[in-house]
Amino acid sequence: MAVAVYPGSFDPVTLGHSDIIKRSSQIMDRVVVGVLNNNSKTPLFSVEERVNMLLEITKDYPNVEVCSFSGLLVDFVRLYHADVIIRGLRAVTDFEYELQLAQTNRVIAPEVDTIFLTTNLKYSYLSSSIVKEIAMYGGDISAFVHPFVAGQIRRKLAER
Ligand code: PNS
Repeated sequence: MAVAVYPGSFDPVTLGHSDIIKRSSQIMDRVVVGVLNNNSKTPLFSVEERVNMLLEITKDYPNVEVCSFSGLLVDFVRLYHADVIIRGLRAVTDFEYELQLAQTNRVIAPEVDTIFLTTNLKYSYLSSSIVKEIAMYGGDISAFVHPFVAGQIRRKLAER
């Protein structure tokens, strides 16, 4: 049974992330989406809200689970007895950071490998930060996030 962890901040989850989750779920037997609960970052959404949005958009994938984690990613990977970490690569600009992450993880946990999926071309420019910025200035984000997520972003911004 091939188990993968797909980690990230997901603040919030975009259609680019959803595409990676869907494709991973077709390749792997089990995919655990790991939502980083890191106190040093100040996300727009709490970790519970980020997990809830991911649960909503992955509800039709029976082999996908969503959990939060704090601390080291490799500890989370070991906890779930996962074989690999999955990361999406959008453009060459992602490569340096992703290589550093993968190489570091492999030094501290030599049994853990990272698999990169190239992001769907449709979403190669997309990031959670860009979505938040567009929403903050009242722009239309329907092409970038699931309708449920768009509603959560509007609600969150209205609360501010
Ligand atoms: O969506 P992101 O913010 O690019 O995801 C980054 C993430 C969560 C994969 C990375 O920050 C991470 O793994 N954090 C956990 C802490 C850790 O293990 N750090 C050492 C690896 S370099």
